[in-house]
Amino acid sequence: MIHRFKTIGSTNTYAKVLAEQGAPQGTVVVAESQTGGRGRLGRSFHSPAGSGLYLSMILRPQCKAAELMHLTCAAAVAACDAIEVAAGFRPGIKWTNDIVHAGRKLGGILTELGLHGDQVEYAVIGIGINCCQKADDFPPQLQNMAASLSLATGKDILPQQLEGQLIQALHQMSEGLLSRKDALLERYRADCITLGREICVVQGETLRHATALDIDKDGGLVIRLPDGSRQTVAFGEVSIRGMYGYL
Ligand code: BTN
Repeated sequence: MIHRFKTIGSTNTYAKVLAEQGAPQGTVVVAESQTGGRGRLGRSFHSPAGSGLYLSMILRPQCKAAELMHLTCAAAVAACDAIEVAAGFRPGIKWTNDIVHAGRKLGGILTELGLHGDQVEYAVIGIGINCCQKADDFPPQLQNMAASLSLATGKDILPQQLEGQLIQALHQMSEGLLSRKDALLERYRADCITLGREICVVQGETLRHATALDIDKDGGLVIRLPDGSRQTVAFGEVSIRGMYGYL
């Protein structure tokens, strides 16, 4: 079932309410705009009317939370699949959850879990993709780091054109979410533009330089620090950025 709104606070927040009320696997919430769109690490997600796709899907995987660490990665690959069909190009992924093209952010993913002890009751995958914004539709602070499908292709690509592809790609991904985890992460590695780059790892007030080496079996980022040691950072803990800018 698809719940549609002209405007809503956050499709993820509403999907969590529906999930708590027992909404089944595959339930979708879509809005034309969000007044309180949320991103990772407590950030907001700019969600103006009619120019982006703001969509959340409820999943009910039968597993423990520790077995679902790769969910955001799997959702990011599904978002790339959908964009490839709808817009005709395959974007990249900036670890963990940014969908990017030509050095700019096209959208992002926010996954949230409902737990009973360590058992997953539901997962909400929230995806926001900039579709038909023109350069000066973005607020000044986003203008040199944001992109849209229309800007990337030179064609008008409406949110409705992407919606069906995204729902289909998420359904397909969810079928292999637990049974084809390694294959999903292999696809994530292929799409992840962070690998091989010099990056800044930001954890609270601390900033460290590192080289991004690999994605581990749970979607964590394996990095090499300047002293040669290796570490894996989990997506809940850190944000990363390039040495000289967003990527
Ligand atoms: C990020 O950039 O950190 C993630 C952004 C995720 C935005 C989407 S839009 C649909 C869903 N509802 C929300 O409030 N957030 C996600």
